[in-house]
Amino acid sequence: MTIRLRRLRLTEKLRSLVRETTVSPRQLIQPLFVVEGKGQRQPIDSMPGIERLSADELEREAQELAELGVGGVILFGLPAHKDEEATSAYQPDGVVQRAVQVIKKAAPQLVVITDVCLCEYTSHGHCGIVRDGMILNDPTVEVLCRVALSHAEAGADMVAPSDMMDGRVAAIRAALDESGFTHLPILSYSSKFASAFYGPFRDAAHSAPAFGDRRSHQLDPANFREAVRESLVDAQEGADILMVKPALPYLDVLRELRARCDLPLAAYQVSGEYAMLKAAAQRGWLEERRAVEETLISIRRAGADIILTYFAKDFAAWCRKNA
Ligand code: PBG
Repeated sequence: MTIRLRRLRLTEKLRSLVRETTVSPRQLIQPLFVVEGKGQRQPIDSMPGIERLSADELEREAQELAELGVGGVILFGLPAHKDEEATSAYQPDGVVQRAVQVIKKAAPQLVVITDVCLCEYTSHGHCGIVRDGMILNDPTVEVLCRVALSHAEAGADMVAPSDMMDGRVAAIRAALDESGFTHLPILSYSSKFASAFYGPFRDAAHSAPAFGDRRSHQLDPANFREAVRESLVDAQEGADILMVKPALPYLDVLRELRARCDLPLAAYQVSGEYAMLKAAAQRGWLEERRAVEETLISIRRAGADIILTYFAKDFAAWCRKNA
């Protein structure tokens, strides 16, 4: 007798009956770049199709995303003013804080997540407080707590620290709890690698470091065990959701975390992953929709419950067209 695995692949109705992994728009988070001002829709060269939006434009964008059934958004702010201490990051009327208010009002169905990091707010572009060329851990964590709290006060549904300082999840948890935000979940960028694939983001968010790099805090791409440990430490510190970033180059880490821990897992398909697919699609070298869907399925198959992806809106629109 021959084993005939092809029997169940014969027709689409059979294939769809035995399909193991699915992606649905509600599992996707659309990253949004927010700028000051009015009527702003600034294209980003290295991320075709993605724009920096001012708060008024965000309103329409958020409504469209909600209407398409996208699960949520994560916000990155580009402040008008940057300084060494990232003071614009925690102002009650800061660029992200105002964006949160706008989106919550315009599209209450969306989960509004804020990225908690200093790199977009420091004049030197580093993720923390710098003294003598060193990024200081504990002083940075203090500022991060203020930032997270200001996002919570603005009405964010979840905060997402992305800085990779030690101890920040525990500190942010304590700060939120003390101020009455015991109910607010933390999505930790728990296994975040020092990756070349963040290139387009730094262009989009004007957050490239003026000197040096991020290797003193982000993970070495070579280190699997350390990456797993980072995430498990964040789970112990009270993270509600763990995240692996970037996504495709680190599916092994995602898979391992799925096996080792019961928290929901997120993966961030980052700007460089988006740019590669877009560039190839624009040249006609890849079929965009099929290639994108394959990457999203792979990320889900490896163990992600949630995917942060610049394709969230496109994917949701494709699903709509099919229905
Ligand atoms: C830090 C942050 C970065 C990204 C998300 N949060 C940049 C970095 O660490 O340099 C990258 C996301 C992407 O590339 O799409 N605030």
